[in-house]
This record gives sequence, structure tokens and C-alpha cells, in this order.
Amino acid sequence: MSLGGERPPLTVIGAGGHAKVVIATARAAGWEIAGVVDDDPKLWATQLLEALVTGPCEEALRDPARTCVLAIGSNATRRRLAALARCRFASVVHPSATVHASVVLGAGTVVFAQAAIQPDTRIGAHGIVNTAASIDHDCTLGEAVHVAPGARLAGGVTLGDEVFIGIGAVVIPNIAIGARTTIGAGAAVVRPLPADVIAVGVPAEPRR
Ligand SMILES: CC(C)(COP(=O)(O)OP(=O)(O)OC[C@H]1O[C@@H](n2cnc3c(N)ncnc32)[C@H](O)[C@@H]1OP(=O)(O)O)[C@@H](O)C(=O)NCCC(=O)NCCS
Repeated sequence: MSLGGERPPLTVIGAGGHAKVVIATARAAGWEIAGVVDDDPKLWATQLLEALVTGPCEEALRDPARTCVLAIGSNATRRRLAALARCRFASVVHPSATVHASVVLGAGTVVFAQAAIQPDTRIGAHGIVNTAASIDHDCTLGEAVHVAPGARLAGGVTLGDEVFIGIGAVVIPNIAIGARTTIGAGAAVVRPLPADVIAVGVPAEPRR
């Protein structure tokens, strides 16, 4: 889902490495970057991919006239900032991503290059579907989830809010993973996992 018709310029919240990819993705999708804001004063007056960094974030987040995207890797931070915000949030989809028309993307969700999202999947607000990740049919993802580069969710997978799926991890069909759980890089999730655990390995097991 992107804003129809004339697009307003996009304010990018966050000026780290993740924001760089969000800027590149947004520009590829036709957005003009109005600016980048960050709470770290050391970054103010610097540039990120030729976009000026200013701050702090609060003014942009509280401005109902702005259209923003949260370009911060931490799931918990994106969710916390979204809760304070009065701005509008755009979802941004790279033109090389394949997103079926039936997919529902929450406000502020960003889909990076070469990702694929299959029919009837729903993704909550402020999600990240990173480079070349794939999310198959009928998945339900909560708010502020992150599916890292190259990770694969099979059909019917359910992720709670703020779940992080590490780079290259896989989740087999119809598995549910509880809120805030982290799946390590390269893991294979073959059984449901509760909330608030870190699970690694093949098969993925919660770490003590
Ligand atoms: C799982 C993870 C979150 C754990 O991070 P951490 O708590 O800092 O873990 P540590 O590096 O201290 O490692 C702790 C132990 O877990 C092991 N471990 C860490 N990550 C692992 C993984 N993905 N698979 C298997 N074992 C792993 C370490 O080897 C170490 O084992 P040891 O105690 O026997 O030495 C992290 O290693 C990971 O996989 N992150 C994914 C990052 C990612 O995908 N980023 C994409 C950004 S776009």
C-alpha cells in the first residue's frame, strides 16, 4: 500500500545504516526525501546519501502535516516512536519487490529490493521486509516486525509484534512465533516458539 496520487516528500526518521537503505528504497520507488532526522546531535548537519540530517525527531513525529517513515532497525524503538507520533506514515516498496495485490501492508512498513510477499499475507505497521526476504501466502505478521535479508517464511506463519527473524533464517509452514522473540541468523524454526525468547540453530531452540 502506498499513498495514491501526488506523493508528499518523505521525512526519514533515523540516520543509521538501516536508514541509508530506506532512503535508497524510497528514492527507487519514486519518493522525494524531504530530510532525515535523528536524536544524535553529532549527526546534525551531516548528510546521508545526499539528504541533510537534522534533529531531534520529535518535531517531525508530532507534525500531522508530515509524511514519515521510521528507518530504525530496533523493533522496540520503532514501536515506541510510533506510539508518540501524529505524523502520517508511508509504506515504501522497492520496485523490484514482488508484492501480491491481496497483501495488506501496515502504515510505515518498508519492503526492500527483491523481496517477495505472496497472496493474502498481512503485515502490521512499521514492519521491515529486508532485502530478498520472502514471505509466503497467508502469513500474519504483527506490528514492528523485522524479517532480515534472505529470511524465508513459509505459508501460514504467524509472527507476534516486534518479532525479529535473523538473516537467512527459515520458518516452516503454519508456525506461530510469540511477540518480541528473536530468531538467530541461519536458524530453522520447525516448532512454535513462545514470546520473549532468543532461538538459534537447526532446528531452532530457545537459548537459555
Ligand atoms: C541470535 C543473536 C541475536 C544472538 O546475539 P547475542 O545474544 O549477542 O549472542 P552472542 O554473539 O553473545 O552469542 C552467544 C552464543 O550463541 C551462539 N550464537 C549466536 N548467534 C547464533 C546463531 N545465529 N546461530 C547459532 N548460534 C548462535 C554464539 O556462537 C554463542 O555461543 P557460545 O556461548 O557457545 O560461544 C545473533 O547472534 C544473531 O544471529 N543475530 C542475527 C542478526 C541479523 O540477522 N541481522 C540482520 C540485520 S539486517
